[in-house]
Amino acid sequence: MEFKNVYDDARRAEAYAKLEFPGTYYLAYRDLPEIIFKHVKGRRAIDFGCGTGRSTRFLQKLGFDAVGVDIADDMIEKARQIDPKGNYILIKDGVFSQVEEGAYDLILSVFTFDNIPTEKRKVELLQRVGSLMKSEGKIVNLVSSPDIYVNEWESLSTKDFPENKNAKCGDKVKIIVTAIDDKRPVEDIIWPDEDYRETYRKAGLRLIQTHKPLARENEPFEWVNETRIAPWVIYVLGKSQVGR
Ligand SMILES: C[S@@+](CC[C@H](N)C(=O)[O-])C[C@H]1O[C@@H](n2cnc3c(N)ncnc32)[C@H](O)[C@@H]1O
Repeated sequence: MEFKNVYDDARRAEAYAKLEFPGTYYLAYRDLPEIIFKHVKGRRAIDFGCGTGRSTRFLQKLGFDAVGVDIADDMIEKARQIDPKGNYILIKDGVFSQVEEGAYDLILSVFTFDNIPTEKRKVELLQRVGSLMKSEGKIVNLVSSPDIYVNEWESLSTKDFPENKNAKCGDKVKIIVTAIDDKRPVEDIIWPDEDYRETYRKAGLRLIQTHKPLARENEPFEWVNETRIAPWVIYVLGKSQVGR
């Protein structure tokens, strides 16, 4: 299957750079501080798939010494423009030679695995980013739930893509981010919860927590389905304890 990283694109990067935390994106990030501080002890972090740096700047604000890495140079360029003092590294897919091994307390990945096509690639990349963390380090992996592709949301739309309903694990699905100027559909890969669990097992990772954030009525957004269906899933992962 041919799969192109839609974020490797100047127009997309320009539009994405203006996206902060509206509506459904607020919900993606809302519970991360509590989750991170519950599980992560030190303050050295890698933001895997940092895009234009929103998630890296989010980590910096939480007090992390954060390094953003991404394979899309248009995205990295924007991240550096927005945050000239930040640390953003353009990497080749799966090559982390510019980053220290076994040194990080947290690997944060926000939406990145939505764009990684096969189980083989997901397992390889989880193993690679896992090797960057200390033995007690944690991966916090935020991904889109399969429900996001078959419902409407405050900041995203899928009504033009009824074919998403038939998609199975590993299939391409389309979604429009209505919160940005670039309304061209984003192409993602659907990956249900049970398949993520199997992928983590194959990558030698231990699943510590799964969180599916739901919106609250009193939040200042025009929620569509967010109060009853979780658009995102947050996984907290640690290294498997071999021999225990
Ligand atoms: C939807 S953007 C999210 C950006 C950022 N985490 C945020 O929350 O704003 C996903 C990013 O993952 C990056 N990405 C996709 N595959 C990757 C890979 N194999 N290695 C590193 N980054 C990758 C894309 O280039 C894109 O910038």
